[in-house]
Amino acid sequence: MKVDVLLGLQWGDEGKGKIVDVLAPKYDVVARFQGGPNAGHTLEFDGIKHVLHQIPSGIFREKTRNIIGNGVVLDPIVFKTEIEKLQKYNLKVKANLFISKKATIIIPTHRLLDQAYEKAKGVDKIGSTLKGIGPSYQDKIGRQGLRVGDILAPSFKERFKKLTNIHLEILKNHDITFNWSDLESQFLDAISFLKEFNLIDSEYFINDELKKGSSILAEGAQGSLLDIDFGSYPFVTSSSTVTAGACTGLGVSPRNIGEVYGIFKAYSTRVGSGPFPTELSDADGEKMRKEGNEFGSTTGRPRRCGWIDLPSLKYSIMINGVSQLLMMKADVLSIFPIIKVCTHYELSNGSITELVPYELVNEKIKPIYVELMGWNIPLTGVSENQIPVELAQYVDFLEKALDIPITLISTGPDRTQTIHRTLK
Ligand code: GDP
Ligand code: IMO
Ligand code: MG
Repeated sequence: MKVDVLLGLQWGDEGKGKIVDVLAPKYDVVARFQGGPNAGHTLEFDGIKHVLHQIPSGIFREKTRNIIGNGVVLDPIVFKTEIEKLQKYNLKVKANLFISKKATIIIPTHRLLDQAYEKAKGVDKIGSTLKGIGPSYQDKIGRQGLRVGDILAPSFKERFKKLTNIHLEILKNHDITFNWSDLESQFLDAISFLKEFNLIDSEYFINDELKKGSSILAEGAQGSLLDIDFGSYPFVTSSSTVTAGACTGLGVSPRNIGEVYGIFKAYSTRVGSGPFPTELSDADGEKMRKEGNEFGSTTGRPRRCGWIDLPSLKYSIMINGVSQLLMMKADVLSIFPIIKVCTHYELSNGSITELVPYELVNEKIKPIYVELMGWNIPLTGVSENQIPVELAQYVDFLEKALDIPITLISTGPDRTQTIHRTLK
């Protein structure tokens, strides 16, 4: 068996959590490979909405084992809160959750540094979720980070203090207020809690499972356009959100990657700063935000909204080697009589391109649109053979332009509001 990868093709929040939960019964293992508590993955079933930040979205499926991979940055405090929230559902969390000893730990000063750095950037701020992602990956790459396996060593507290002191020294130059003794005791309490879980050598675990013939789904966080290398730098997150990130974030060879599910919204959203060529700052954008309930799952911030952007989708598909497309939130577009699709960009020098320019951040891009008829009817309860003709035309248009089949259409937040397409 191979590792299938599911990842976002836009700026995150495409609906990864919902689809991982929908697909999880088909998989023995679900594994997160990057990111941390900046993620907010929403699942809905039986009238209850759950938002997961650190825990993989297969956790509600009894037979699925879940792994937090080595590429993840883990905040023990957020983790503890998240586990406690799940307690009332009587899930087999302890038995079904495994954490890589090589995952990096977010310590409280990482969050404070995130705040300090964003504040110092002023108007150029990234719009970070302030969960300590940038500073913790910085320490990982700078070879001074703490890892989950380290918490088992007698010297852990000492090493934690040493790293903390380095950070506190930097923080002296920034105007950030905090109560260190509260943060420290909260953290050490969460570390004791974390010790009770299965801390494993996840690269061995995953490769053994592959040998045994188990099916594995790698769950991406954020989106390809927020990738540290290929996103709109510097307005990106600090990890590899693309398929290659699943290899380094889990210890899986590229030869063992199977399907790559690329998930996208039928329109576009972005939360935080940075370029967004098809952004709508008008009444249509407002309507999209309201209809799609486009408010951040982690921070509650309003998401910026706009039409679908094919040049950037094509770019993401290329980088990731996407083999199947999954289209989310088709129901949200039911309110529009006309639907626009950006097929090309016009650059400030007048040239027209379907490539994403290097100077995306400083370039004033004018999107070139084609218009398609909207379906203008609600999609609640619609099955595959009841898809309105205009939606079928929209899907057909996208499939032709992107040259990849759309195998799933999502028509609402619930597990059941999902159309699996039979391809001819
Ligand atoms: P993720 O980060 O990719 O897991 O996505 P989020 O959970 O942050 O954001 C997706 C939002 O859209 C959540 O509130 C979901 O409940 C919701 N959602 C997912 N699929 C659909 C859909 O097809 N239609 C509608 N209306 N909402 C959806
Ligand atoms: P999921 O997994 C949407 C955005 C932030 C900010 C930038 C950097 O739910 O799709 P960071 O906290 O990483 O320093 O923020 O990336 N961002 C996300 N946007 N969905 C996410 O995750 C995001 N995680 C980070 O808004 O612009
Ligand atoms: Mg999200």
